[in-house]
Amino acid sequence: MDRNLALEFVRITEAAALASARFMGRGDEKAADQAAVDAMRKAFDRVDISGRVVIGEGERDEAPMLFIGEEVGLASPEAPAVDIALDPLEGTTICAKGDVGAISVIAAAEKGNFLHAPDVYMDKVACGPKAFGAINIDASPEDNVARVSEALGKPISDITVVILDRSRHEELIQRVRKIGARIRLIGDGDVSAAMAACWEDSGIDLLLGVGGAPEGVITAAALKCMGGDFQGRLLFKNEAERDRARQMGVEDPLRSYQRDELARGSVLFCATGVTDGPLLRGVRTLPGQRATTESVVMRSQTGTLRYVKAEHNFNIKSSVVSGGR
Ligand code: FBP
Repeated sequence: MDRNLALEFVRITEAAALASARFMGRGDEKAADQAAVDAMRKAFDRVDISGRVVIGEGERDEAPMLFIGEEVGLASPEAPAVDIALDPLEGTTICAKGDVGAISVIAAAEKGNFLHAPDVYMDKVACGPKAFGAINIDASPEDNVARVSEALGKPISDITVVILDRSRHEELIQRVRKIGARIRLIGDGDVSAAMAACWEDSGIDLLLGVGGAPEGVITAAALKCMGGDFQGRLLFKNEAERDRARQMGVEDPLRSYQRDELARGSVLFCATGVTDGPLLRGVRTLPGQRATTESVVMRSQTGTLRYVKAEHNFNIKSSVVSGGR
């Protein structure tokens, strides 16, 4: 992945974050998401890539913009061909409530290197670099907690597992509690929760449970850059979902995926905070038509994490939010 693309991609997630943050706490998930999508779509028009959205806002007939298969970027003859996995607003409910950890994200890989994951659920397990190789999606939650505890050299009672607060996780939560591990239940946002496991002082050691499959591919890209581990298995509610997955190239619907099977080769990942979270500060509005953003951009090739703090002046650059120049 060309490192020069990194800053270009930051501009795109910044635009989406700035646009959606205007809807923070206003209780309107759709408006927040739409603002992020519109801004991200327009921002792509300023970047010279020949991009194809493989993880996006949905199928062409249900998502007018940033749909799966949509081509984005200026696409000059020299432009690199890249596949894009994106979520203009990861945590729409978080943003609508003004809660913790909404982000705008893009991951990019060379053509053909992301799993074309359908919009179904995925069973997931994720941990940071120190526990790399210890997790196994086919193992029980008890085993995964025990292996991570051993890899990190701390007792199970000191391990914190992050789990989405959903009724489907009742049994999982009981089992993790039974072995004495600690749990952080989150309302939404399993991408940033998995990424937090890669930060030693985030207070999170492991992510377990079922979330969105598209988010799983994005998480795999992020954790690849951060040296963390991730595994997932697609879950299907019915035959129609299974058929859709087959059409998208998933030959064995039961198989489990390693991190590098979801995000192959060299990848680039970029995120901007929308609301304050464990990874990034959210958008701050300042007097005089200004705002600040905090982003992180990283490449798996080098493992460098680069933080970008920006102050935007809308008197000059009024189009950042509206997605113009
Ligand atoms: P959105 O930003 O699309 O609302 O997704 C938020 C999220 O919490 C993801 O982080 C997670 O993977 C997924 O939703 C879980 O899905 P569900 O809300 O159906 O349990």
